[in-house]
Amino acid sequence: MISRTKRSAIPRIVFPRDFLWGSATAATQVDGGDDASDWFNYCKKPGRIKDNSSCISACDHWNHYEEDFRIMQKMKLNAYRLGADWSRFQKTPGKFDTKALDHFRGMLDSLRRKKIRPLLTLNHFTLPQWWAARGGWTRESNLEDFYKYIDFIVEGTGDLVDEYITINEPNVYCLLSYMMGIWPPGESGFGGYLDGMRAQRNMVIAHCHTYDRIREIHARKKFKSPRISIAQHIRIMDPLNSGSLLDVDRANAADFRFNRLFTDAVHEGKLIRPLGNGETIHDGNAWDFFGINYYSRNMISFNLFTPHLLFIKESTNEDGPVNQLGWEIYPEGLTRAVMSAYDRYRLPVRITENGIATSDDLHRSAYIEDHLRALHRAMELGVPVEGYYHWSFMDNFEWAEGYTAPFGLVDVNFNNQKRKPRDSMLLYSRIAKTGTL
Ligand code: FCB
Repeated sequence: MISRTKRSAIPRIVFPRDFLWGSATAATQVDGGDDASDWFNYCKKPGRIKDNSSCISACDHWNHYEEDFRIMQKMKLNAYRLGADWSRFQKTPGKFDTKALDHFRGMLDSLRRKKIRPLLTLNHFTLPQWWAARGGWTRESNLEDFYKYIDFIVEGTGDLVDEYITINEPNVYCLLSYMMGIWPPGESGFGGYLDGMRAQRNMVIAHCHTYDRIREIHARKKFKSPRISIAQHIRIMDPLNSGSLLDVDRANAADFRFNRLFTDAVHEGKLIRPLGNGETIHDGNAWDFFGINYYSRNMISFNLFTPHLLFIKESTNEDGPVNQLGWEIYPEGLTRAVMSAYDRYRLPVRITENGIATSDDLHRSAYIEDHLRALHRAMELGVPVEGYYHWSFMDNFEWAEGYTAPFGLVDVNFNNQKRKPRDSMLLYSRIAKTGTL
């Protein structure tokens, strides 16, 4: 990280006038009150969540949204990435909750009135319990249920929202839920690996089909023409020892498996190996921009004892600064991630997540400045970047870490749900307001 004194010597940079300055959340992490999700069940068993907490309370954003959106408005943020949890709208098969839909419409309408542009995530890890019990993403025959949920949400809200993320981070989901066993359904080993691959294959099919479906609904209902993508978590994968052919080879494998497998498949409209045998499922281009979630870098080495992880071992650069979760803080990686994504897919980019878990808010401010500079560097080099959504608007339920990883621009007191914008939020607000840094 660059020290405060040296910062004043750095030249000012200017972002485009129409740049989207946003923040991001996910429904399960902030909304609270949803007892029909697989995550609600998962939290019940002690030991699974670091502080043995539950997502059932979270930030009660579902009821505090007006207050939260007012903070965004006051802070001059013009975009918000928010989520809809399927389990909230369909607690049991066959029955959709129109009251919940009305409430959600109220949220979107409130954003519209405040001129905050919503980017709606339709699936952010969480599943309805009944669908998870049927095998969730691992069964292609289950996808019809997902499409019905898509119809319900998009037909019900498409007059208020026209930008979508279909699925958040299929790569992280498959890794943590099926290969590392730390998220529901908690699988690992070789069986988990196979299920993870099945899930990822079906998510490619679901994304491509959902892309067409959303477009069809918007056209049929005469809603504004939509823009659709996925949010892909990209981690820089560097070899631990760049002189070791095995480490270099595994770093390339990690880069392909984690960063590119899903997006290559979507881009080509094919079930590329190892997701399938190259079967065509779409005419390609089933995305209108590239949503990149960027946080950190992994150092990769060959490891004989992790065959189910393709002999890949991840570690952290010991010389670099890290966040509270031990993730290396590596701003240059954002330039690298954006450049390589653009070289490969030639799509406009949005940073749909980027942030730091820290209890020291000065670190958050520095993180924001350093990453925005790194992003701007990619723009100077020719990448069309449409916007940046900081993760996260407020402290929230950080999955298996519970409430122990403060990622928020806004501090949340989880005892009384009081919000307090941090200094980093004031800094971000200044940047958003002036478009300069
Ligand atoms: C991303 C997830 C998001 C949050 C951040 C810290 O991988 O999409 O929900 O957990 O990490």
